[in-house]
Amino acid sequence: MKILVTGARGFLGKFLCKRLELEGHTVYPVLSSQCDLTKPGSLNCFKETAFDQIYHLAAWTQAGDFCLHHPGDQFLINQMINTNVLSWWHEKQPQAKLIAMGTSCGYAPENPLEEAYYLQGLPIDSLFTYGMTKRMLLVGLMALHKQYGHNYLYLIPSTLYGPDYHTDGRQMHFIFDLIAKILRGKNQGAPVTLWGDGHQKRELVHVEDFVSTLLHLSKICENTIVNIGAGVEYSIRECTNLICSQVGFPFENIDFDLTKYVGARSKVLSIARLKELHPTYSPRSLPEGLQETISWFAKKLA
Ligand SMILES: NC(=O)c1ccc[n+]([C@@H]2O[C@H](COP(=O)([O-])OP(=O)(O)OC[C@H]3O[C@@H](n4cnc5c(N)ncnc54)[C@H](OP(=O)(O)O)[C@@H]3O)[C@@H](O)[C@H]2O)c1
Repeated sequence: MKILVTGARGFLGKFLCKRLELEGHTVYPVLSSQCDLTKPGSLNCFKETAFDQIYHLAAWTQAGDFCLHHPGDQFLINQMINTNVLSWWHEKQPQAKLIAMGTSCGYAPENPLEEAYYLQGLPIDSLFTYGMTKRMLLVGLMALHKQYGHNYLYLIPSTLYGPDYHTDGRQMHFIFDLIAKILRGKNQGAPVTLWGDGHQKRELVHVEDFVSTLLHLSKICENTIVNIGAGVEYSIRECTNLICSQVGFPFENIDFDLTKYVGARSKVLSIARLKELHPTYSPRSLPEGLQETISWFAKKLA
């Protein structure tokens, strides 16, 4: 198949493109340096090719408290990116299936994190704009399907982890931040301070398991929304303990800064729908996936 991938050089995009190429597809990566998706018509350099699939991964965001401090820019940039991609799909590539990424931050915290509730209630204040722009992406896909019959799939990943993450100084997802801090503590004797009391819980999906699941669902589902989570969550303290024991750093040497931003106390996506669609879904365990991620970070920080 001929497949266009936006956000192809992002964390997920790198793994997805590699896997699509291994499966024999012709992949057309979209890089922001060549194609600024905030500009209408920026995808026209690809208009001569009729794509079978478009994976839309591009988004302007970072982890930590980035969303809290950039709501205005996130609204403008992500709305422009999503509107331009959807409009180009509608005008030039209506035959393609568009597969887009949502976010668990789009759910209202008081609701069950089940697909049927994704557009109900409001996302938490600190992630409100990011969550709402992701919801609007789904609204756009549903509207274009309803009026024109275009084919889409909208997937909601929980936090992804694995090797080959960004090391450009951006705010990292907590698990990468934990690994980097603990490695620096061990190798350089740097103090290790974590945000919050460590009791907040998160789930993590290895990026390669996510890609396998994404590719499986892209073949069997359309015009729907599916969560892709791990089904189990770990407290930050449990994750810290696992990293400490794999790195060989004493857990007792870690400080917890209770004044820092920590986000939601707990969020674990319902994977009932995913299990129905993909009964053999079984992402690797966190200790197994962490070992490889820690080794990659250790080499990068050496
Ligand atoms: N990683 C996670 O844990 C996670 C969890 C939930 C949802 N998601 C969603 O999954 C998708 C992929 O996540 P990720 O972790 O791979 O994100 P990422 O590493 O931040 O990659 C995002 C990509 O978006 C591209 N981009 C940003 N602004 C652009 C613009 N103006 N024009 C063209 N491209 C632009 C960047 O391209 P360049 O590199 O070329 O600049 C970047 O590669 C995102 O939509 C994200 O919201 C991710």
